[in-house]
Amino acid sequence: MIDQAYYPGLEGVIAGETAISSIAGGLRYRGYSIEDLAEQSSFIETAFLLLHGELPNQEQLADFRAILAEASEVEPTVLEFLAGIPFHVPLMDVLRTGVSAVAHFDVQLDDSTEQAHIAKALRLLAQIPMLMAARYRDGQGLASMDADTELSYSGNLLYLLTGEEPSTLAERAFDVSMILYAEHEFNASTFTARIVASTLSDLHSAITAAVGALKGPLHGGANERVLGILEEVESPAEAERWVRDALAHKRRIMGFGHRIYRDCDPRAVILKGYCRQLAEETNQTHLEEIAETIERIVWEEKGLPPNLDWPSARLYHYLGLNVELFTPLFVCSRLTGWAAHYIEQCRHNRLIRPRSQYIGVGPRKYVPVSERGA
Ligand code: CMC
Repeated sequence: MIDQAYYPGLEGVIAGETAISSIAGGLRYRGYSIEDLAEQSSFIETAFLLLHGELPNQEQLADFRAILAEASEVEPTVLEFLAGIPFHVPLMDVLRTGVSAVAHFDVQLDDSTEQAHIAKALRLLAQIPMLMAARYRDGQGLASMDADTELSYSGNLLYLLTGEEPSTLAERAFDVSMILYAEHEFNASTFTARIVASTLSDLHSAITAAVGALKGPLHGGANERVLGILEEVESPAEAERWVRDALAHKRRIMGFGHRIYRDCDPRAVILKGYCRQLAEETNQTHLEEIAETIERIVWEEKGLPPNLDWPSARLYHYLGLNVELFTPLFVCSRLTGWAAHYIEQCRHNRLIRPRSQYIGVGPRKYVPVSERGA
């Protein structure tokens, strides 16, 4: 028995230091509020901020974009291998394998300088959309698209998936969602990446593990399940019946609740405004009414606020994105936070190795197999 405090799920435990983001008093990346970033920045500028610690000047931003454009080619062997995975396998699983597979072709895999870590992160940032789009379009019986480097990072990502150039509003709304998903201090997948980093394993291993952690329905996998809720009901009245019944049966409503945000997830507030605008642009305002009804009842009955996955699911739906893409899109964005944390962990490393509280049987005598009876 360890004579120490024990907090299941590490709830409330400070498990390390970070200079990448803070939650107290509003979410900030490297000191900048997400409200300011969502209003004035772009995902790619935010990615630079997370990886380098400062916002880029114009020249640095142009260089960053040029590096990404050059790094997007994926080794054909990897694409061929992924194409051989049966189509029933979820895209998140294929992506996890894809990140692991591209590692074998990364010439800097075992280079543990900070410069190399940033270069590897940028290659992943460029390659993951290509992997994801190739696999997704293949599954839909559609030809792969070439990247359009004239578009923003987010605009190109939408183009690769849908085959169409997004409207200005669609591109901006999606870019803002990418900013909001990019970083969130010691969430489960980021902590996973930091644990892997703390063993001095390579960046690709840390990202592969983080993708595995993200796919769970209590974490990133929630956004895929949210749309199912909205599609299950046809009107606000039906939504009210559905949600009261779900709560009465103690079912978890995906997209609600958060370990840290008990009253309000500020990311969800920002994205909700874009949902309304896009719902109007695509004539789907009925989904907004249904979402608002569910929000009101979950708040009244359980005091739970919507988290970021709640608005993002319908935002992505309005953008014409298939549900199987939702969590993989989270990967494209959170990759930047994971890589920043990987680098930070390496910089001030101490092996992460907590203790456990043993609750199994007490000491007992070993009996040889020949004496154990039938
Ligand atoms: N629906 C219904 N009840 C809920 C929900 C929910 N979504 N979330 C929490 N509760 C209830 C829970 O049943 C418990 O009630 P009671 O005290 O009566 O037993 C109480 O609220 C406390 O729940 P908890 O599981 O102890 O709280 P937690 O801090 O461990 O949970 C959470 C955080 C995110 C795992 C949980 O809120 C949840 O399962 N939400 C649904 C999944 C989801 O939307 N995940 C995305 C999180 S945000 C994006 C990301 O970071 O990935």
